[in-house]
Amino acid sequence: MRRAKISIIGAGNVGATTAHWCAAAELGDVVLLDIPATEDMPKGKALDLRQSSPIMGFDSAVVGTTSYDDTVDSDVVVVTAGIARKPGMSRDDLLATNAKIVSSVAEQVAKTSPNAVVILVSNPLDAMVQRFLQVSKFPSCRVLGQAGVLDTARYRTFLAMELGVSVEDVSALLMGGHGDTMVPMPSCTSVGGIPIRRLLSEERLAEIVDRARKGGAEIVSLLKTGSAYYAPAAATAQMVEAVVKDKKRLIPCAAYCDKEYGVGGYYVGVPIILGSGGVEKIVELKLDEQEQADFNKSVDAVKELVAAMDKLMAG
Ligand code: NAI
Ligand code: 2OP
Repeated sequence: MRRAKISIIGAGNVGATTAHWCAAAELGDVVLLDIPATEDMPKGKALDLRQSSPIMGFDSAVVGTTSYDDTVDSDVVVVTAGIARKPGMSRDDLLATNAKIVSSVAEQVAKTSPNAVVILVSNPLDAMVQRFLQVSKFPSCRVLGQAGVLDTARYRTFLAMELGVSVEDVSALLMGGHGDTMVPMPSCTSVGGIPIRRLLSEERLAEIVDRARKGGAEIVSLLKTGSAYYAPAAATAQMVEAVVKDKKRLIPCAAYCDKEYGVGGYYVGVPIILGSGGVEKIVELKLDEQEQADFNKSVDAVKELVAAMDKLMAG
């Protein structure tokens, strides 16, 4: 049986760590591509990772490269190329630089892996995934973004820490854009099947929701030289797994919503079913009044971001 081919564009912190998780879980053969200042960097990282395989017991091949020739006919392409946040920067500050990088990546991927499912990670996420779609002209079901799995994982982690329970028993959903307006959904949060509002006060829940919203900035302020990568990479690898194993995972991802939730043609975090075809279904929930208002606010922030990007790219 042919192994899946997974190409990761950008061999920095998130890209290399995603390669690590994907190879260690034998999700497929991994190609790690970067256009770095020192040409051999992706080759060095890939060889190092491959040399861990006898110890960790995986047979995935890991190849480092600066050439898209090595990525030809990938089943999944993960895009982590771009600059990351430093203290004091918002995700949106990355807009101009990363929009140009993502445009060039999209041109290359469209030529070399026209049938791939593409998972964007580069920030600002909701605009970068839209940019990839615009340039690649891929069907929107095959272009999606990673944010909700990470943001939900942060929310689940904080809830498990608060309640002193296994993270495995915390089930939750978070919607909206990957920014400060993201919308955690207490109505869709439970622990061992028990609705969260029966376990925590509204005040404490609001504090935890706020910490999850600011989860990326908290890591940036601690690291000082860049942004989070272990959890973002694990979230991305979970999405890769859903595609290569056709798992039909119901998880929150940035998906292209047109009529869905009345969004009107933008990427926004919503629950989807993710399988070998990419976004196989957008799951539409009836939101309560507050959730709908918070979601609309988040969609407005995404629209503003995309408008700013379109202006920059047109100019
Ligand atoms: P990093 O700086 O460690 O790595 C980025 C890599 O991209 C560098 O190695 C750089 O050489 C490479 N690169 C730049 N231009 C390229 C091009 N044209 N082609 C190929 N490679 C290119 O940054 P890190 O921490 O890996 O973050 C990557 C991106 O992911 C950032 O934009 C960051 O904000 C974003 N991010 C998004 C998250 C999410 O949940 N969506 C979570 C964490 C990070
Ligand atoms: C994060 O949420 C920076 O988007 C990145 O950690």
